Amino acid sequence: MKILGGPASQLLAARVAKSMQCELALVEFKEFPDGESYLRIVDELDEDTLVIQSTTTNDQIIYLLQLIDAASDGFLRVVIPYFGYARQDKRFKLGEPISARAIAHAIKADEVYVINIHDQQTLEYFQLRSGNPAINLSAAQTIGSNLKEMNFADPLLISPDEGATQLVHDVAQAMQSEFDVLVKKRVSSEQVQIQPKTVDVHDRDVVIVDDMISTGGTMAEAIKLLRGQGAREVHVACIHPVLSLNARLRLYRAGVDSILATDTIERAESCISVAPLIKHGVKAKP
Ligand code: R5P
Repeated sequence: MKILGGPASQLLAARVAKSMQCELALVEFKEFPDGESYLRIVDELDEDTLVIQSTTTNDQIIYLLQLIDAASDGFLRVVIPYFGYARQDKRFKLGEPISARAIAHAIKADEVYVINIHDQQTLEYFQLRSGNPAINLSAAQTIGSNLKEMNFADPLLISPDEGATQLVHDVAQAMQSEFDVLVKKRVSSEQVQIQPKTVDVHDRDVVIVDDMISTGGTMAEAIKLLRGQGAREVHVACIHPVLSLNARLRLYRAGVDSILATDTIERAESCISVAPLIKHGVKAKP
């Protein structure tokens, strides 16, 4: 099997190729003067190809579709570590598209894997060549085992809202740590208020865990709240470090000690690799 890394996931593709002992193909990417994307797979392809590309921006979605088209002759597996537009998975207002569905419909492959997709119902939007369902892999165990090695002092894991409770439960289980949940009330698209449950964080190291950090609004409120309650150290961890706009400034001004994330999106904070998760999650060719 050959691994094709898209421009958004070059490092992760290299890590997967190394851990699966597969060849990493060379792909050239460029942009035409009119802004259109271009790519070319320089190496000859095998019968069996694994494309790895996160769809972090509109351009990266185009690169994914181009990679799929260029590699579509053989058996094709696609890993989309971070599936953008996943939060637009419903028609919230009349006249809106279901953007996650529109993108899923455009992906023609034999197998598709995503990692901690916002809502697993989005998997149903994929219509794969094989007729198989798309598969969601959870990085909870990966994050948990990496956090465990960081030797926090009796850490308390916190879910910043009810939506992340299962994820935080699973991370805490992998770490054999305690966990609790805060209740979030969204005031506007960029502002949230956190209403505390009974969490005794005084003098404890806490790690707030969420599936993604986008604007940082959710985490910043949680950090301030936990600082106010006397937490000793406050760290944040997420699967997908979207970290848009001034998210980092918001988190550090709120008093975070560190930001830890996986490489589903390749950022400076991506110290935890999901390469082993992909290695074990991708099925052998039928
Ligand atoms: C919400 O459903 C997600 O789990 C995250 O809590 C949210 O997307 C984070 O967004 P932000 O960083 O903009 O508050």
